Amino acid sequence: MLYLSLACIALVLYWATTRNHRYWADRGVPGPTPWPLFGTHFSQFFVPMQELDTQRFEKFGKIYGVYDGTTPGLIVGDPELIKPIMCGTTALNVFTNRRAVKTTHPVMSKFLSSLEGRPWRRVRSLTTKAFAVPQLKSMIPTMQHAAELMLAHLNAATSNASMSGPVNIDLKRLFGTYTMDVIALSAFATTPDIEFIQQASALFTFPFWRKFLDYVAPMWVLDSFGFTVLPKEPMAFFRQISADAINTREQERHTGMQPARPRQGKDFLDLLMDVWDDMESGTNHKLTKEEILAQCVLFFSVGYETSSQLLMYCSYCLALNPDCQQRLYDELSTCIGTLPETEHADCIVKSPYLKAVIDETLRLYNPVLRMERRASEDFELGTTGIIVRKGMLVGIPVWALHHSCEHFPDPERFMPNRFLPENKHHMQDSTYLPFGQGPRNCIGKQFSLMESKLALAEIILKYQLTPTASTTAPLQFVPTGRPLLGPREVCIGFQKRNLY
Ligand code: HEM
Repeated sequence: MLYLSLACIALVLYWATTRNHRYWADRGVPGPTPWPLFGTHFSQFFVPMQELDTQRFEKFGKIYGVYDGTTPGLIVGDPELIKPIMCGTTALNVFTNRRAVKTTHPVMSKFLSSLEGRPWRRVRSLTTKAFAVPQLKSMIPTMQHAAELMLAHLNAATSNASMSGPVNIDLKRLFGTYTMDVIALSAFATTPDIEFIQQASALFTFPFWRKFLDYVAPMWVLDSFGFTVLPKEPMAFFRQISADAINTREQERHTGMQPARPRQGKDFLDLLMDVWDDMESGTNHKLTKEEILAQCVLFFSVGYETSSQLLMYCSYCLALNPDCQQRLYDELSTCIGTLPETEHADCIVKSPYLKAVIDETLRLYNPVLRMERRASEDFELGTTGIIVRKGMLVGIPVWALHHSCEHFPDPERFMPNRFLPENKHHMQDSTYLPFGQGPRNCIGKQFSLMESKLALAEIILKYQLTPTASTTAPLQFVPTGRPLLGPREVCIGFQKRNLY
């Protein structure tokens, strides 16, 4: 009797954890075999997501079915089908939202990236003003200040060994410090001290159990235990810093008081509060104080690691490709050589080869590996006969697209020339997506490009980058359990140039 009961329980459990697992097979859509309870995404905790996506893209083709636990989802890697999902009216009306974020936390639930539907539209349109190019230009002094700190650090690290060859530098640490400075100055108007760095490190450390719980447990369970995917203590710390900065800024604005510490230029707080002041004349469309605070915390958490990874891969690629590095050095030094210092930043930001180097780096090593959209109504996928059901998630395998020889000949080679204006017409729409596409694309794209260009130009003009005995090729990655690239240590050599 006991055995029979156990067998019945096992059968019920098996049924409950595998129900729906024939959904795609019944519709003739290929895909990886799901595990009971965990579905098909579980392997991302053990194998880097980019490897999984590439293997599956090769094995199952451009469209295949997956399972989030027992819930069916679809991966779409065909550019013709990606376009309507990410751009145009369908993107706005049907695919506006991403995966629902499992939180009711007062700050996280107000993140632009977590918002849905009308509230998202409202906050997106108000925050977009802070990211317009003229506004971003007012942040150049902040970025230049952080770049000076980075160069001072490099100078100290290389000065003792200037005559004895390149100095091995850990790029994660170098650019982590730079982007932390930029984003801390831009979002919180503060220079990171020890406590700030410790709290930031706690914010960005995702232990396995945290990612795993977020992956398997439904929202009501997480909410009952007060669980949030971002840890609460650092969230509270950054919330407090933002709230203090907003209050101080408010006082300065209303009393005409001079800032306690002179600022280099405008920052996100200024820009978001400008929107606030503009709107103060009576409409209810302004950003609230809590909303500003939430976006500052969000910009910090999403802007730090992605930008620091971009700079890391760029420097690595240039060290391994001396011809490209020389061409970049020649272009930058020629352009800057003829201009007064006040115009350097403008010339750097407009440099076509620097842009091509960054674009090609983001093709080879896109920090955000996969994007998702959730259907708000049934949607027929082109002429495939596949219906994306209301509520279903569609994933876009960006790494696999960027590394497909169909879209990028010789895809593993670093070739910035593909992105020069005269060659860009060879590229098919919706095959190059490091910042996403359409209404829900990365709002920080221009900010991040500007910050990266300024730092990279400073480095290339003053240092020659070379591989050293510690430089690994190809780069090694660890699984992150999230759609974010997880580089192991990356080191290259820095040697001061004599010419500039
Ligand atoms: C190299 C650096 C960066 C990369 C590669 C990157 C990439 C991305 C990608 C792929 C998305 C999703 C787009 C989509 O779903 O179509 C995204 C969204 C977003 N990014 Fe970035 N990002 C970077 C830097 C930044 C920075 C510096 C900020 C802020 C200062 C930022 C703020 C955001 C926000 C707020 C969203 C959500 C937008 C929305 O839901 O409306 N990102 N980013």
